[in-house]
Amino acid sequence: YRRLRVALLGAGAVGSQVAALLRLHSAELADRAGASLELAGIAVRKLDAPRETDLPKELFTTDAESLIVGADIVIELMGGIEPARTYLLQAINSGADVVTANKALLATHGPEIFDAADQVGAQVYYEAAAAGAIPIIRPLRDSLAGDRVQRIMGIVNGTTNYILDRMDTEGAEFADVLADAQRLGYAEADPTADVEGYDAAQKAAILASLAFHTSVPLESVHREGITGIDKAMMDAARHAGLVIKLLAVCERLRDADDSESISVRVYPALIDRTHPLASVHGANNAVFVQAEAAGNLMFYGAGAGGVQTASAVLGDVVSAARRHIAGGVGVGESTRANLAIVPIGRV
Ligand code: NDP
Ligand code: HSE
Repeated sequence: YRRLRVALLGAGAVGSQVAALLRLHSAELADRAGASLELAGIAVRKLDAPRETDLPKELFTTDAESLIVGADIVIELMGGIEPARTYLLQAINSGADVVTANKALLATHGPEIFDAADQVGAQVYYEAAAAGAIPIIRPLRDSLAGDRVQRIMGIVNGTTNYILDRMDTEGAEFADVLADAQRLGYAEADPTADVEGYDAAQKAAILASLAFHTSVPLESVHREGITGIDKAMMDAARHAGLVIKLLAVCERLRDADDSESISVRVYPALIDRTHPLASVHGANNAVFVQAEAAGNLMFYGAGAGGVQTASAVLGDVVSAARRHIAGGVGVGESTRANLAIVPIGRV
């Protein structure tokens, strides 16, 4: 097989699992990709930090910039805006395809990154940027490209679902379960992003942009988190046959003058216990998509977690490798759907 040089930026909850699986399944991945995926190195902040998986010390570096030089595929799993943005742009401009799970970056600087990729014919893969292991980016961007999505409704943050679920089922305290979610690798580096709904809002902006073929700015997403939810509220909901879940809703609206706009919002909602979303437990996510021709579709599975998310990342890596091997044309889908057809509307 032709050898492709893969640079990994970040070896935290997700990155360490990606590195381990790349090495463990190297032969199978090579067969599927049609290329040998050579892990050239792993950029981190601290060389001596404890890692979740056992990886050769010589793979690690603190010099991300040098690692990117000459890479065919760059996987960004550092999180945050900077220096992730700078490294991704450097990778794109040096001819690499990039894979990222960084919804914070894509929801705020997506157009800049996609434009940079378009200019040089590179691809940006980001299946892991929404709903962890659940395939939802490709279905919205590709499988449903011939349909009209009317509405997306779902639970898209694993940490908050884990917290609310344990508060509901065990009467656990918010702070204790948040600490568990951090320990299990579900939460963002700054868990405020999870509990205040920023992470869900970023994902909602990404999903709505794909579903409605427009560019939804993060600022237009209505956002409420779960920090105001306490045990008394959970109990009251339970006694009424309801459960509290952090929901993301993205929908087309028809205005009085018959024009269309879209609404994207994230908020804690009361859900009847018989509703399928009430049965989404732990760090799982579920996304309902209502499309004009397809009808109702449901996507369900692990919304957070290192190894689960690594599955989505590695799927992107295989896609990127196939595209490379095919000469970079025609394989690997268009990066985005960005034709503005509707104004961003009410919440
Ligand atoms: P972690 O915080 O666990 O890991 C981040 C990694 O990036 C660490 O290895 C860290 O190095 C490295 N890093 C951070 N900043 C720098 C820098 N300036 N230079 C070099 N290396 C750096 O994050 P996660 O693995 O949880 O998440 C990674 C990405 O995946 C994020 O964008 C997140 O939103 C996304 N994601 C996470 C999911 C999850 O369940 N955790 C699920 C879906 C997406 P060091 O180890 O030395 O500190
Ligand atoms: N912190 C995020 C969550 C990770 O809990 O859903 C997955 O995107």
